[in-house]
Amino acid sequence: MNVAPITPDLIPAAAALWHEAGLTRPWNDPMADAERALAGATSSVLGLVEDGILRATAMVGEDGHRGWIYYVAVREADRGRGLGRVIIEAAERWLAEAGAVKVQLMVRDTNTAVIDFYERLGYEDAEVAVLGKWLVTV
Ligand SMILES: CC(C)(COP(=O)(O)OP(=O)(O)OC[C@H]1O[C@@H](n2cnc3c(N)ncnc32)[C@H](O)[C@@H]1OP(=O)(O)O)[C@@H](O)C(=O)NCCC(=O)NCCS
Repeated sequence: MNVAPITPDLIPAAAALWHEAGLTRPWNDPMADAERALAGATSSVLGLVEDGILRATAMVGEDGHRGWIYYVAVREADRGRGLGRVIIEAAERWLAEAGAVKVQLMVRDTNTAVIDFYERLGYEDAEVAVLGKWLVTV
């Protein structure tokens, strides 16, 4: 199964997938998020396309210290087929090639169901609290 940076024409499909997967929030514009990540030199949106359908995504970014993964989603109809593992492993390869030695991701407190999935793939609770602050008014 081939995973590659999505082409710009797939941005609406990625945004729809993220919406279906419950990953969108009113303060994030998923289309703008995808455009920005695709335009960046150290970031991308990886997609798994099969039979012309975008079935899984992961946004990746290397920040000069760590590799980060966002917007991990598999189409509801395609879950349980191993595509989540395929997209995460592709994200890890992309980030390793970008120079990252460690990969990190954030899971919302309300999304405890996904913790087991990440543990199956070798991820551990990093025992850190994530703090945030807006730099622009949203
Ligand atoms: C989480 C998600 C990406 C998993 O995708 P998937 O394609 O169903 O996962 P896979 O079939 O590749 O499963 C990979 C492994 O994790 C396990 N797994 C998957 N979902 C699991 C769950 N909810 N609980 C426990 N284990 C799970 C599978 O059994 C499999 O184990 P194995 O490879 O050792 O046999 C998908 O459910 C999804 O898109 N969820 C909604 C969006 C979301 O929450 N994203 C994460 C944001 S942080």
